[in-house]
Amino acid sequence: MDVEEELHAATLGAAFGGVKPTTFADNPAMPRRNPEHFPRDDRRVYDSYIAGRQSAVLAAAVRIGLFDLLEKSPLAREAICERLGTKARPTDAMLAALFAMGLLRRDDAGVHSLSPDASDYLVRGKPGCLAGLIDLEIENFLSPAMLLEALREGRPSVYGGGDPWAEHEADPQKAERFTAAMHSISERPAAGLAETVDFTDVRRVLDVGGGSGALSLAIASAWPEVECVIWDLPVVCGIVGEYAEAAGLGDRVTPRPGDMFQDPFPAGFDAILLSQILHDWPRERDRELLAKAWAALAPGGRVLVHEKLVEDDGSGPLANALVNLDMLVWTEGQQLSGAEVREMLSEAGFERIETAPTAGYWSVVTGWRA
Ligand SMILES: C[S@@+](CC[C@H](N)C(=O)[O-])C[C@H]1O[C@@H](n2cnc3c(N)ncnc32)[C@H](O)[C@@H]1O
Repeated sequence: MDVEEELHAATLGAAFGGVKPTTFADNPAMPRRNPEHFPRDDRRVYDSYIAGRQSAVLAAAVRIGLFDLLEKSPLAREAICERLGTKARPTDAMLAALFAMGLLRRDDAGVHSLSPDASDYLVRGKPGCLAGLIDLEIENFLSPAMLLEALREGRPSVYGGGDPWAEHEADPQKAERFTAAMHSISERPAAGLAETVDFTDVRRVLDVGGGSGALSLAIASAWPEVECVIWDLPVVCGIVGEYAEAAGLGDRVTPRPGDMFQDPFPAGFDAILLSQILHDWPRERDRELLAKAWAALAPGGRVLVHEKLVEDDGSGPLANALVNLDMLVWTEGQQLSGAEVREMLSEAGFERIETAPTAGYWSVVTGWRA
């Protein structure tokens, strides 16, 4: 054995407990017979391809009630099958995938429990739970076929290609499901926004396209002097009351039906909030909205743009770059970078523009009317 071979044997010994492996797996030190053949690791590509299975197993587990069940008590696979009415082999596969994803824990006796992340964000009824959003995925899962259609048609394809907001007006159940999903997305970052922004001098907030009122409810809850008005389409305004009453804030978070494009923005507000609105529309319509916001504010008022921003150079975060694909299917818009939002705010006449992270992948960009 020459020195190199000895070193190699020692490396193998350390890595494999003295047992020489019979494959190249996980052993970059092993000499390869044909190193120029597949010199590059294929895992970045393979992992991207297989990642969709994570969304699928997560959505199925949410829909079937696995996380709600395990929140009550940790259980072994047999008991899980019995309670959920599922078959053994697929249940094993689901549990194994969720374990590998870090959403479940498993003890030596095979008893499964929730990881802290799963317990915080996947159990229905908990504040910030993402189950509503994930559940919506099952009906409208972003598939390669949907993306291909979007690429070819260049317009939203959800609901068979009609205007999604008109579909909501026509079918209140669709509006309810969409609003519940939005509530699910927005509840956690809403708390982040209410913690990040100083509302000391604010008395009235206009929440444009406010949906369930997730943002307004968080602001009103954290800032007892603040009153918020949810300005949204009539069908959505019919839903807001339920969320506001459930939060015990029905007196300070109220709906006002309107159309942000057809109607002038109501005056008399210290702050105008646009949360996940600009990402729904082409940039020229965003400019229209920001100009209307500027006109409705008195000097000293501010606009708050709350979005999952992408980096100015487009380098990420990956999650926000991927959400951009959903925009293709659901809306006419796109995720924006901080620089794009700042530029549009500046064009509309806003000054002292600043960006701050709120929670997770979210940020708020604030601009003031001098
Ligand atoms: C992506 S959701 C954002 C909801 C909420 N702001 C949030 O961040 O959770 C867009 C909202 O804009 C509303 N919307 C769409 N078109 C509108 C219009 N022309 N006038 C007022 N609201 C509109 C929708 O009904 C929906 O509630």
